[in-house]
Amino acid sequence: MTSLRDQVLDRGFALLPALQPERSAGELAASFGTPLSLGAGDPVHTLTPAAKEASTPNTYSGLYGFQSFPFHTDMAHWRAPPRFLMLRCVVGFMEVPTMLIDGRDLARRVGLDLLARAIMRPRRPVQGKLPLLRVYQPLEENAILRWDEVFIQPASKAGEEGAAQFRAALGRWAEESIALATPGDTIVIDNWRMLHARAPVPSGCEGRKLERAYLGSLH
Ligand SMILES: [Fe+2]
Repeated sequence: MTSLRDQVLDRGFALLPALQPERSAGELAASFGTPLSLGAGDPVHTLTPAAKEASTPNTYSGLYGFQSFPFHTDMAHWRAPPRFLMLRCVVGFMEVPTMLIDGRDLARRVGLDLLARAIMRPRRPVQGKLPLLRVYQPLEENAILRWDEVFIQPASKAGEEGAAQFRAALGRWAEESIALATPGDTIVIDNWRMLHARAPVPSGCEGRKLERAYLGSLH
């Protein structure tokens, strides 16, 4: 049987339908790999839809409320975004799928050279700093793709050009739609490769509840 890690590395994500709904997300994440605590908090965060007015400005809910969230990678404004992202259904709706796009294919189409020169920076300082970040950042044996229209912005001419081309290609790219609708439905996503987005939340689905954890590695 292929391991979870192999599946995620092969396809960019792995879906585990109705996986042990009685188990806590923290326990499950720890069984998959190394959960990351961002700051001092618990590695597991609960995500619920929220109206714009009820949310902190400069967050996805504060900007988009119940509308769809645009495609992004998580923590794109960090120098080293978390490698893997786990999302798990507590209360789900078929009407509110999570959408995925393979950013590696997309980046190849746009041009890795251009995107490796596309310098971006956070819109707001991260720990007092505005580090320069590439849309496509080759590493020794891997690469980090980062994309986010809210938290990062172009910081150079090549950044503007790369971002414009990436945005245009993204708008034409076919997405994969996965509804985490049944309790326990769990998806593990390669956050250095895949873009994800949330569909709009129609009325009646405001009770949607997902748990999220980041993982630095998978076993
Ligand atoms: Fe996200």
